[in-house]
Amino acid sequence: MGEAERTRPLRTAVIIGSNRESRAGDAIGRWFAGVAAARGDHEIDLLDLAEWRFPERFPDRPDEAVTAFTERLDRAEGFVIVTPEYNRGYPSALKEAVDYGYDEWQAKPVAFVSYGYHWAGRYAVEQLRPVFTELHAVTLRDGLHLDLLAEDTTGAEALERRRRTAHTLLDQLGWWGLTLREGRAARPYVA
Ligand SMILES: Cc1cc2nc3c(=O)[nH]c(=O)nc-3n(C[C@H](O)[C@H](O)[C@H](O)COP(=O)(O)O)c2cc1C
Repeated sequence: MGEAERTRPLRTAVIIGSNRESRAGDAIGRWFAGVAAARGDHEIDLLDLAEWRFPERFPDRPDEAVTAFTERLDRAEGFVIVTPEYNRGYPSALKEAVDYGYDEWQAKPVAFVSYGYHWAGRYAVEQLRPVFTELHAVTLRDGLHLDLLAEDTTGAEALERRRRTAHTLLDQLGWWGLTLREGRAARPYVA
């Protein structure tokens, strides 16, 4: 692998996992994607599940939307899942989208931005970890977890803390992403 390929920005897909009407996930996901894109070391592809029209039932053969979606997953070298917490889990729309991929997730890193009440979406994240383990992806320990009921969610200090945590997540995702890019190029993954 040449130097240019080794060091070019990581192709990072940011997936907004809520498609609920009046969702908070839209603003959170777009804010995060903006922070990531401004750094220059991640080439961001925003996949907002509210913008995809997937089949009503899991199809025998992938239709155009599913194929287009899995192509975007395939192109990505790392993922950030932006997920809310619904009844201690994550949204069904997100599970549907994750299940459309298989090889596309393999030997790639996955980081989480979560949000919810009090636990800040951590239960959703812990339920997503085994899903990505099954898919041979690597989940990151550190994420960004937002408590939507915290007293200060919009003050300058809170925003600065949130921004710093986002950068730590992106630093770590970058490390894993570049390392696994080289690993996949050096030898085929053994599934
Ligand atoms: C069906 C449903 C179940 C919820 N369950 C939880 C929960 O178990 N824990 C929690 O912290 N928040 C829970 N919430 C609050 C959500 O985390 C909060 O409304 C968040 O904004 C939802 O994300 P969204 O607006 O992007 O869809 C729930 C919300 C909904 C709609």
